[in-house]
Amino acid sequence: MPTPVERSLRVFPAGGNGEFNLPPELATVIVRGEGCRLWTSAGRQMLDFSMGWGSVLPGHAHPQVVEAVQRQLTSGTNFAHVTEQSLALAEDIIAASPACQSIRFCASGTEATMYCLRLARAYTGRPKVLKFEGAYHGAHDVGVASLFPAEPPDFPQTVSSSAGIDPGVEQHTLAAPFNDAEATAEILARHGHEIAGVIVEPLQRCLPPLPGFLQSLHSATRDCGALVIFDEVVTGFRLAYGGAQEYFGVIPDLVAYGKALGGGLPLGAFGGRQEVMELVREDRFDRDDYVWTASTLGGNPVSAAAARAALTIYRAEDVYRRLHGLGQYLRRNMTDVLAEYDVPAAILGDGPLAQIAFTAGEPRDYRSSRHADAPLARRLMLELFARGVFLNPMGTKLYLSLAHDEAACDEFCEVLTGALDAVLDRSRAAVRALA
Ligand SMILES: Cc1ncc(COP(=O)(O)O)c(C=O)c1O
Repeated sequence: MPTPVERSLRVFPAGGNGEFNLPPELATVIVRGEGCRLWTSAGRQMLDFSMGWGSVLPGHAHPQVVEAVQRQLTSGTNFAHVTEQSLALAEDIIAASPACQSIRFCASGTEATMYCLRLARAYTGRPKVLKFEGAYHGAHDVGVASLFPAEPPDFPQTVSSSAGIDPGVEQHTLAAPFNDAEATAEILARHGHEIAGVIVEPLQRCLPPLPGFLQSLHSATRDCGALVIFDEVVTGFRLAYGGAQEYFGVIPDLVAYGKALGGGLPLGAFGGRQEVMELVREDRFDRDDYVWTASTLGGNPVSAAAARAALTIYRAEDVYRRLHGLGQYLRRNMTDVLAEYDVPAAILGDGPLAQIAFTAGEPRDYRSSRHADAPLARRLMLELFARGVFLNPMGTKLYLSLAHDEAACDEFCEVLTGALDAVLDRSRAAVRALA
């Protein structure tokens, strides 16, 4: 009888459903999860620092989410129409999100950013969009433009990080360096008349915005008439209940949500200023600026029920103080661990997020945060995985959840020490410290 892992290697390309890029000996099939742990078909328990790529912020199988889903299941799972669940959820999101006067649901973050970009083009009548090099906005063509270019072209040109992309996309997608307000303003001054919108991860991957960067970006777009789109798929309900808008104090024209919003079930949402969102009204179907949106499972009542339960959990007292405190604890301890080794490294992140960047300088954008030694970073990630930390070895971003605690972070740091011992030379750092 073939094992589940052997069967998965047979039916899935590379044995996976995307992105993990595990070698066959680490191929894994998950049986169940609880809190911040999961169990594999090989009977192994793993400490989860991926948490469904950050979608399961409450923790696996959180009783409130489970109960909400179970209750909804017996009343129907999808109507492709407004339900009491999706209506109440939309009201909750609008109350939380300063940018959202009006909202629609979809089923993923990819769809949410795609609709925001489409709305920006339709509203302004302009063809181009500006993104920041190294940012991810989902699997669509713009989302993977200059995502991880090996040889980045001169700004504002982009190069696709995927094959199979519509050739026109590179021409219509411009890139700026994250955290460089001057370079961004220059690109907007030169190309702004053609730019429909600027899409930004307010916390790009794990790179925090420099003070004033998002504000400068916002004001440069007012000068050229481009919309600002916050991709809050990661930051929404994670950095604060009001997301990056609340946390960094900048209100965009449009906003995209996913991940933590659904509490682990498939859900995306996009919203913004009323006059922009009006373009999706189907009673404007025959107008030139009508924007097509349709998502069969978007806002289905099961996902909406899970999301309402998740938002109730997030609204509890102390949640964000706890998430930030835990993130700081993890990053501080990871920094201490790394300091023992003879390797240039920085720990990036904010809120309940952390990432190791093997770089010598001060990481502030894609180019300065790229690993100086990418094979080393990969070896470390695979070593961590092999030692029982479930993470995405390609992404390297670590996600904490409300189920993690300091003990889980300590356990992670212990595994990190063992993994670093296996891939690096600690003795040289000790010698250097003595000298
Ligand atoms: C910032 C950001 N935007 C969009 C997406 C796409 O979301 P999804 O995978 O739900 O389509 C992701 C996914 O990782 C993301 O990190």
